[in-house]
Amino acid sequence: MITHLLRSFFFLLFFSYSLQAVEQGNAGFQPAIASAHPLATDAGIEILQKGGNAFDAAIAVTATLAVVEPYSSGLGGGGFWLLHIADRDRNVMLDGRERAPLNASRDMYLDEQGNVKPGASIDGPLSAGIPGVVAVIEKLAKQYGKLPLSVSLAAAIRHANEGFRVDEHYRRMAGFRLQSLLSSEDAARTFLHDNKVPEVDALIVQPDLAKTLEIIVRQGAKGFYRGEVAQKLVASVQKHGGIWSLKDLEDYEVIERAPMVVVYKGMKFVTASPPSSGGIALPQMLNMLSRYNIEEKGAAARTHLLVEVMRRAYRDRAEFLGDPDFVDIPADRLISSVYTSMLVKDIKRSATPSSSLKPVAEPAGKGSDTTHFSIIDKDGNRVSATLSINYPFGSGFIAEGTGILLNDEMDDFSAKPGEPNVYGLVGAEANAIEPGKRMLSSMSPSFLETANRTAILGTPGGSRIITMVLLATLDFHQGASAEQMVKLGRFHHQYLPDKIFYEPGVIGEKVKSELIKSGHTLEQLESDYGNMQVVIVDKKSKKSEAASDPRGGGKATVIH
Ligand code: GLY
Repeated sequence: MITHLLRSFFFLLFFSYSLQAVEQGNAGFQPAIASAHPLATDAGIEILQKGGNAFDAAIAVTATLAVVEPYSSGLGGGGFWLLHIADRDRNVMLDGRERAPLNASRDMYLDEQGNVKPGASIDGPLSAGIPGVVAVIEKLAKQYGKLPLSVSLAAAIRHANEGFRVDEHYRRMAGFRLQSLLSSEDAARTFLHDNKVPEVDALIVQPDLAKTLEIIVRQGAKGFYRGEVAQKLVASVQKHGGIWSLKDLEDYEVIERAPMVVVYKGMKFVTASPPSSGGIALPQMLNMLSRYNIEEKGAAARTHLLVEVMRRAYRDRAEFLGDPDFVDIPADRLISSVYTSMLVKDIKRSATPSSSLKPVAEPAGKGSDTTHFSIIDKDGNRVSATLSINYPFGSGFIAEGTGILLNDEMDDFSAKPGEPNVYGLVGAEANAIEPGKRMLSSMSPSFLETANRTAILGTPGGSRIITMVLLATLDFHQGASAEQMVKLGRFHHQYLPDKIFYEPGVIGEKVKSELIKSGHTLEQLESDYGNMQVVIVDKKSKKSEAASDPRGGGKATVIH
């Protein structure tokens, strides 16, 4: 009893001291940014220091990543931006996901025998959806930001004109997509040197992209979706076998959606809603986990439970999820308590064979083909954004004279229900191709809130994004720092193939043999994966910490 009273006394003493410190200090939050590229983080920090808010900084980071990480995202791509508007205490999701062109059709990637044509949804302009990034940039500037685009896009224009240096990662990505880049004259001229992967430190300059960005500064999104740039985009796409029309570009709209919110053991979890599949899968997994004392389990039992939870959520992903404006997703049912009870009912001590559920295939990719950044500003505004052009260097196609590298996000549709895409994900009718429809995504930018701390997080990684966010979320719930979250070892299960994939060394021999005894199959991957960017703010002290995944070459900065 005395110990208890003493503990309460010291707690109160500490608590009053913390409050006092906050009251005496500057009321502002400590601004911070973590992104996948140092030049993008620096561009965002520069904007915050010039008086811009998190949304202005998000424009600068988005556009700079588009220039200096062309293999991951770009103006020819899309993404989800999760915003927290501090003065209204409101969370909003900006859905800038690509849409299928109006001339798209369900079987457009099938041959006469009804088989998926290899590469048709991955290479060249036929694989490109209508991009959303520029529309989001304009919305952020007009509705949420404070600075003009001439300021927030300045760094991106500078890097496009002056060039950025090739590193080993660029070389790996360009080498991987060499054939595709060689098929596009403008892409080969821009991203290769003498039709070869450039050496480390070679300069990649993008004068056409700089000109397009300057047009966007002068005209806003109109300068991209209408007029000369739009005409060039459509002419070039059509000349090379694509199906875009001017109407596709004119009709593109950002959609503001309500994010998905669940409470997991006292922690508020906020994430992008469909067409992000994480918007259903993550709440489902957290709901299932809230029925267990996972914190008290040993390593093998914990891994087993997480895998069983992942397996069930990915099964539902394949069956139910697609563009909510086209298909009726039973979201309320899928995250309801009754449904959660049904899902956990058959979780046993041994593995549930996925064959008793429903098929998916090989997961793929190290996850460098998408990108993420996290921002907080002094007023507590936040942005968590995951952006993509899908495969490394997207479709590998630059529309002539525009500098715009097009995505190959059409591959995220199920070209043929039941047939795996490049990430091994199988979909059903819910994610079949339809004109104007947004393809299902795994991008899951998120916010986490406990009584004391808020986290802003996300990562690239194709189908593994969702399980990476889950593991980091559980880690944060247990008190992990930003650095611990990005360093955390990763494993993944996506229903089928019925295998636990794990980073080298993350599952030790003893745990592995226990899992095998429970009926699991495991495969150690050749390399690590993901590139998580985390910012955490302490609610009382308003101090921030930020960390960039050591697996990538990003940078995290806190303004002191
Ligand atoms: N293109 C990857 C994703 O959106 O999930």
